[in-house]
Amino acid sequence: MCGIVGYTGAKEAAPVLVAGLRRLEYRGYDSAGMAAVEAGSIELRKQAGRVQVLEELLRWDPVAATNGVGHTRWATHGRADDVNAHPHVGGREGRRSVAVVHNGVIENYAALRRELEAEGFAFRSQTDTEVVAHLMARELERGDEPLDALLRVLPRLEGTYGLAMVTADRPGELLGARLGSPLVVGVGEGEHFLASDPVAVAPYTANVAYLQDGEAVRVTPRDFEVRHRERGPIAPRIDRIDWKPDAVELGGHAHYMLKEIREQPDTATNACRGRLVRAEGSARLGGLNMTARQLRRVRRVVLAACGTSWHAALVGEYLIERLAHLPVEVEYAGEFRYRNGPLDDRTLVIVLSQSGETADTLGALRESRRRGHPTLAIVNTVGSTIAREADGGVYLHAGPEIGVASTKAFSAQVAVLALLALHLGRLRQLSFTEGAAVVDALGSAPALIGEALKAEPAVEAAADRIAQARSVLFLGRDLHYPVALEGALKLKEISYIHAEGYPTSEMKHGPIALIDPQTPSVFVAPRGPLHAKTLSNIEEVRARRGPIVSVGLADDEDLARLSDHVLPIPDAPEVIQPLLAVVPLQLLAYHVARIKGCDIDKPRNLAKSVTVE
Ligand code: G6P
Repeated sequence: MCGIVGYTGAKEAAPVLVAGLRRLEYRGYDSAGMAAVEAGSIELRKQAGRVQVLEELLRWDPVAATNGVGHTRWATHGRADDVNAHPHVGGREGRRSVAVVHNGVIENYAALRRELEAEGFAFRSQTDTEVVAHLMARELERGDEPLDALLRVLPRLEGTYGLAMVTADRPGELLGARLGSPLVVGVGEGEHFLASDPVAVAPYTANVAYLQDGEAVRVTPRDFEVRHRERGPIAPRIDRIDWKPDAVELGGHAHYMLKEIREQPDTATNACRGRLVRAEGSARLGGLNMTARQLRRVRRVVLAACGTSWHAALVGEYLIERLAHLPVEVEYAGEFRYRNGPLDDRTLVIVLSQSGETADTLGALRESRRRGHPTLAIVNTVGSTIAREADGGVYLHAGPEIGVASTKAFSAQVAVLALLALHLGRLRQLSFTEGAAVVDALGSAPALIGEALKAEPAVEAAADRIAQARSVLFLGRDLHYPVALEGALKLKEISYIHAEGYPTSEMKHGPIALIDPQTPSVFVAPRGPLHAKTLSNIEEVRARRGPIVSVGLADDEDLARLSDHVLPIPDAPEVIQPLLAVVPLQLLAYHVARIKGCDIDKPRNLAKSVTVE
């Protein structure tokens, strides 16, 4: 969370920073700001509100410098107001020696603040970040090189940081550092960038150098220099971004969320590309870095994740149990990392994260590895911290996901978990014929997801009714229970309507007390072995005059008779049904939020990448 962008080169920096911040706004959007060095002094522009507010501020109070750092904030310490907006300046007696932007949390900031105040540094904000600015200013007073000064500051900081800064005495020079919060250098011709996500620099260059934890960098228009805080100079590795810059454009869609929902047929294709082996009735997942023999030894699987990724993991639990007959536990990453649950050497731990930067999921990965467990990761963002620290894993290849409410990453994770379940199953009891049926099912998923997208007009009609509700229940069984949870999460995230997901069977054990004519229930009810039981549960809600929206087959007459609205999906083999059933629920949340006039791609209080605990 929090977006960082820095620029130094021949262009005017402010427009580059603003454009970069717009691309990073999904990381936080409660205030925005920038700092640049002009004629030896630091110019500061910052304000509460969206990046657009900063842009307007710059229109009537421009900055012409060709260097600068910018920030879009998700508040942790101190309210989202003008004073707490980044950058923060450091210096004695009002002098602006340095301006700092920060992503992460400085956990010992209170003690550092007391120390600096005792030495005469005056603080303006309530943020943890301001201590970094004053610590830097204090070191710069010694007259050392700025990078040396930064390397002396870093060991004083406890917590996590991605940092970028400019110093008054070195126009054209940017400094950066990372510990637990991503930072990349964008490498251009006669210009360089800093960013918390390569998305910010994609229009200018495809060449990026990912900083590692403990590293600091000095960037000028011509070159950059990386030093580790203990190990000294580091030769950086330049990677190429493998997606096109227009992957992060709206491309005619009203919102990123809608674009990403509609991309899901391609998402399924890309997640499975080169991984389905029809001749063996199995899947090929080379990145696991585990031999068939090692995978056969696995007796238990633990999946750890947060948010939507946690829901995908729950689908994975059903799939792995079904196809590989292995016991699976799904853990909230933030619980797993501190719970000290028993793990033996035949337990396979897998973390799932779209961004690859979620602090709790990273913590779970590190705890598992610290205990000596080879730990795998299912991640979307190539080069992210989780991807780099895991012992092996599978990339989603879903392309950048910008909408804060995750959609296509869920589908990609479910597809990859199906591949994994198939692979583990074929190393055990799953026959060739059964495996080949799963291969065929996954192969047919993209076209069937395309069919499911055609539910949109029916969804819009149902959305009018749901938008009036104060509370909505989402119910599903078996593989569709996690889908119900995900439907409820999507609705609450972007429309702010209270929503709960339950297994359909649990309804009568409590949630049924909520049913009344104002409280709709959304049933995920494609045909399957438990369909008759689900129909009985729908009857029970109907008997209590609860409005009913169902996701099911278009030709299901029983479902149509019992439901006020049916959101149709095509018939499909059970293992891929979650990929289809989630689509109308994503669209439902989208259209309810649209009807209510909510800010769909930037819902209140949320951020896409939660890099703090
Ligand atoms: C945040 C986002 C969610 C996301 C969760 C996990 O809470 O708002 O949409 O599901 O983080 O993110 P990850 O990147 O680890 O999948």
